[in-house]
Amino acid sequence: MIETILTRRSIRKYTDEKISEEVLEKLLACGFSAPSAMNRRPFHVIVVDDKEMLKEISECGMYTKMIASAAMCMVVCGDHKRQPFKEMLINDCSAMIENILLAAHELGLGAVWCGVMPRMGLHKKISKLLGLPSTVEPMGLISLGYPAETKEVVNRLEWEKVHRQKW
Ligand SMILES: Cc1cc2nc3c(=O)[nH]c(=O)nc-3n(C[C@H](O)[C@H](O)[C@H](O)COP(=O)(O)O)c2cc1C
Repeated sequence: MIETILTRRSIRKYTDEKISEEVLEKLLACGFSAPSAMNRRPFHVIVVDDKEMLKEISECGMYTKMIASAAMCMVVCGDHKRQPFKEMLINDCSAMIENILLAAHELGLGAVWCGVMPRMGLHKKISKLLGLPSTVEPMGLISLGYPAETKEVVNRLEWEKVHRQKW
């Protein structure tokens, strides 16, 4: 697990290999195992693997182009009715996204987290394209596929940003 965390990188190029239902279930099980404030579990996931839909999603944002060649895109959404505190909703969905990214890496997949900023074009377009109810907000996209690129492992421990006892 520690090795998985230390070697994960964002992967934006993918082969044509599809993701099996068995692998998908593992990714989802890891995602839904994320911690959740007050255990409200406000997250939903929309799994997209239709090529035309992937293309449409990829065109919704400026930094989402890799989704067109991905085997799958997961759109992690937060339900405001289940968790009215926006910050908690973001935290919960982020925990889910990170779990999925790490599980994907451990399973030999490549993935990248694409952020969705409220009130920006991507947010509106994704909500419309996927037919999200008004109380459900897209929180992040995960582009997934078998990797067609390798990234070097980097040591990112920044001791100068580590503070002990006080700032
Ligand atoms: C909240 C968030 C939003 C991100 N949004 C995008 C994005 O829209 N497009 C993209 O290509 N990468 C996106 N990334 C990935 C970052 O660019 C990447 O994690 C960072 O450059 C570090 O590289 P690494 O993941 O390979 O360690 C996002 C990452 C986070 C955490």
